[in-house]
Amino acid sequence: MSAPATAIGREQPRLEGRAKVTGTARYAVEHPADGVAYGWAVQASVAKGRIVRIDTGDAEREPGVLAVLTHENSPRLHPAESPELLLLQQPRVRYRGEIVALVVAESLESAREAARLLRIDYDTEPHSSVLTEHHPSLYKPDHVNPSFPTDTSVGDFDSGYAAAEVRLDQTYRTPAYHNNPMEPHAATASWTDGRLLVHDSSQGTTDVQVVLGRLFELPAEAVRAIAEHVGGGFGSKGTTRCTPVLAAMAARQVGRPVRLALTRQQLFGPIGYRTPIIQRIRLGADADGRLAAICHDAISQSSTIEEFAEQTAVLTRALYAAPHRRTTHRLARLDVPTPSWMRAPGECPGSFALESAMDELAVACGVDPVELRLRNDTEVDPEEGVPFSSRKLAACLRDGARRFGWADRDPAPGARRRGRWLIGTGMAGAIYPARIPGASAEAAAGPDGTYQVRINATDIGTGARTALWQIATDALGVPGDRVAVSIGDSDLPPALVAGGSTGTAGWGLAVHRACQELRRQLDDRYAGTAPPDGLAVRLDTTDEAAALPRLARYAFGAHFVEARVDVDSGEIRIPRMLGVFATGRVVNPSTARSQLIGGMTMGISMALHEEGLLDHRFGDWVNRDLATYHVTACADVERIEAYWVPEEDDEGNPLGTKGLGEIGIVGSAAAVANAVYHATGLRFRTLPIQLDKLV
Ligand code: MOS
Repeated sequence: MSAPATAIGREQPRLEGRAKVTGTARYAVEHPADGVAYGWAVQASVAKGRIVRIDTGDAEREPGVLAVLTHENSPRLHPAESPELLLLQQPRVRYRGEIVALVVAESLESAREAARLLRIDYDTEPHSSVLTEHHPSLYKPDHVNPSFPTDTSVGDFDSGYAAAEVRLDQTYRTPAYHNNPMEPHAATASWTDGRLLVHDSSQGTTDVQVVLGRLFELPAEAVRAIAEHVGGGFGSKGTTRCTPVLAAMAARQVGRPVRLALTRQQLFGPIGYRTPIIQRIRLGADADGRLAAICHDAISQSSTIEEFAEQTAVLTRALYAAPHRRTTHRLARLDVPTPSWMRAPGECPGSFALESAMDELAVACGVDPVELRLRNDTEVDPEEGVPFSSRKLAACLRDGARRFGWADRDPAPGARRRGRWLIGTGMAGAIYPARIPGASAEAAAGPDGTYQVRINATDIGTGARTALWQIATDALGVPGDRVAVSIGDSDLPPALVAGGSTGTAGWGLAVHRACQELRRQLDDRYAGTAPPDGLAVRLDTTDEAAALPRLARYAFGAHFVEARVDVDSGEIRIPRMLGVFATGRVVNPSTARSQLIGGMTMGISMALHEEGLLDHRFGDWVNRDLATYHVTACADVERIEAYWVPEEDDEGNPLGTKGLGEIGIVGSAAAVANAVYHATGLRFRTLPIQLDKLV
């Protein structure tokens, strides 16, 4: 393939697309390994207690079984920073489903059968697994994910709210949501001469390398972690998970390479999930809907193993103007798995509550919901007091309203009916941080006129590899078929995980700078011709990223949804969903669109379908596969459109990009719920809105 004059901004099919669709792209447990053995994870069947006895005899006698790893015989791990990863080290059980043993065998079938023959006796204790706003363990964490202040306060919310002409005070509830990447969490590990090689399904192998090094007390260079192709993660592979740790422990124990893939059912807990959340929103406004006071109080859960505090109310600190404002987060520690990142942690659930409340305020004030948001737009970050690097929320709202045909909307709820269907429309705003982490990258020119770009970025299916190739091609100013990009290997220059929608901005900046510098040196020293002995430059953008001016950096968006509700069955259909986003410069329109409509689809899923149903008697979820935990499928999505408004945020990032992996899900569930309200006149503040709630 050859690059056009400017690769950035042009539709570009994924570089690895052919390899993926023809099955030659290798995932974590598909790499050949001589003498490979198979692991099968065994999970605790009690929610809280202690293992008093494990009888491994029958399992070990099963033909083909090589080892049964338990807390009694496993390799010892150095206490690393994440207690979550100190696997099979001690007999306590902290949640039902915690991994308590690993069977290793010649075949997957033997390992699974032997796992069935394990006998584990527990001393159990009473457990607490249901989040309520009055849970006795509620406390104020020191910070919320990743490092935001727990509470903020500007002005005087209580008096501002008391004095407001229109007041709204509502509580919104969302259940546990489970990350379900197509490729489950999986790893292949092997030890050779004291060095550890891991193929891991990970969003970032620099972290895997560092963490495994610490756990096994190895220098980082003795660990190599590779994630060449990854079948999705949605945040659940953003931190190092149990799979590479267990595979490495098992490989050390049996002296052979070991493959371990969790089953779909095993993903529901041990790999993180989105915490259930209880959110109270209070809005005080004048009769025209101008906000005087906003308060967002969020309650979520963590495990007893370690703290994860979802930053649910953080978006409310920056989205709308109001002189009096407060946000708080409280956390209960329950006998459940540790929640973690799931696409747009914080902004996603937080926007369901805030953007539902804004819809309720629009109704209360008799103001159009788009107009209400325009009236509360702001030029400066309302809590930080600094200007936005660029803020095109109003442009997204206006462009979305125009494209959707919002202007002639009758605000009356429950007023449109076609046959059995009630019809309504709803909308919501969106915001997501545009962070620019530093990274290292190398660019090299060969004597044959080819170029190599190396960075430990990870492509989890987003198209990151292709976007970096486009950025490199432009900075080098050469045809794209002469440029190769290597990513997904901890031997490459280190870079942050694929997370927080930072890849195109952060990795992209490092690639851009390395290629620019290589171009400059080639022009200076070789007058632009190929260097006879090759030339490589490596640089790091940590200082450059840290020195960017202090501005509020965010992407924005607006969602518009049409909902139809069957008056007899309560079935909800979404015939149309349209989003307009301001995400800086768009590098690859085709993969950008896929990211945005993927996020929007997850919003439909959150609003209407997904729900982790916990049986409090067992302290565990009962629906744990894609049949019983329904994730929105193609048949649930009809017309879905994503657009973006022109924007190049040069204040934010020299490349003008902002990142768009997560903003598509932000606000989308509220837009669906608001459309259901408009269709039916029924306000749903607890998700999901399933048909039994409507009839
Ligand atoms: Mo995303 S939840 O930051 O991987």
